[in-house]
Amino acid sequence: MPAVVPNLTLNNGVEIPQLGFGVFQVEPARTADVVLDAFDAGYRHIDTAQMYKNEAGVGEALARSGLDRSDVFITSKLNNGFHEPQAAHDAFERTLEALGTPYVDLFLIHWPLPKVGDFVDTWQALEALYATGRIRAIGVSNFHEHHLRRLAETSTVTPAVNQIEVHPYLSQNPLRAYGREHGIVTEAWSPIAQGKVLGDPELVRIGGAHGRTPAQVALRWHLQRGDVVFPKTTHRERMDENLALFDFELAEEEMAAIEALDRGMRTGPDPDEFNWVPQD
Ligand SMILES: NC(=O)c1ccc[n+]([C@@H]2O[C@H](COP(=O)([O-])OP(=O)(O)OC[C@H]3O[C@@H](n4cnc5c(N)ncnc54)[C@H](OP(=O)(O)O)[C@@H]3O)[C@@H](O)[C@H]2O)c1
Repeated sequence: MPAVVPNLTLNNGVEIPQLGFGVFQVEPARTADVVLDAFDAGYRHIDTAQMYKNEAGVGEALARSGLDRSDVFITSKLNNGFHEPQAAHDAFERTLEALGTPYVDLFLIHWPLPKVGDFVDTWQALEALYATGRIRAIGVSNFHEHHLRRLAETSTVTPAVNQIEVHPYLSQNPLRAYGREHGIVTEAWSPIAQGKVLGDPELVRIGGAHGRTPAQVALRWHLQRGDVVFPKTTHRERMDENLALFDFELAEEEMAAIEALDRGMRTGPDPDEFNWVPQD
């Protein structure tokens, strides 16, 4: 019996399953089969991106699954080469085509690229697409607080989410607090730091007390903090493991012990330094 994943409500009333499935680094040719396994395990929220080159695999899985479009929450993200407004519009059309669906649930600016151009222009392109009704909610990814403040000063739509790197070694509490105060849900990417936190003695200890794995402890910590997560795995048994989070609870002392693991460790780049634009 698949777990029942709770929804969070975004600032425009749209509901998002708090636990989903990420497909970063899932090979395009394998994506449809992997996502079909994820659907079979019970996931109903898929996080993809133009940059991952596997939106078509997500679309194929949706078509083959027999699920209704409305049963699945799909996020994609604007690639770094398409920040110019007309390029953003064109890229969004290609996303719909690849997914084979008339709309996406959530569409994000993937990176702010502060040295490439002005993300405010890009955000206004997303606002225009949102107004057409083909995106249910728009948001950003990898935005620092100063990027969010600039959007607040210049734009009309508040991002529904900010998708940022968060895990026990990078707790991001000030940025998460800014989001909470301004109605922006935090989505925690690399929630287990791509496996780098799994050998941590505290996570092992706490897992032992609950009969759970370190991955389950870390993911449960995110959920109890109120963030959205979408761990990635290509292994079916890990899909089940990462979904089995709703029949145990971490105590306050355990939550605090995990908070104390923060060491400001990024597995990915700092968004202020990252200005990479793909050439294809
Ligand atoms: N917005 C952004 O810039 C950004 C950046 C990075 C990621 N993301 C999103 O966040 C999602 C998750 O992040 P991520 O893929 O970087 O990392 P992650 O979910 O923290 O970790 C994935 C890695 O952990 C392994 N793993 C998963 N579950 C496990 C388990 N229960 N036990 C042991 N190992 C396990 C996976 O291996 P196997 O696959 O071999 O099982 C994979 O190597 C991505 O897929 C993507 O959707 C967004």
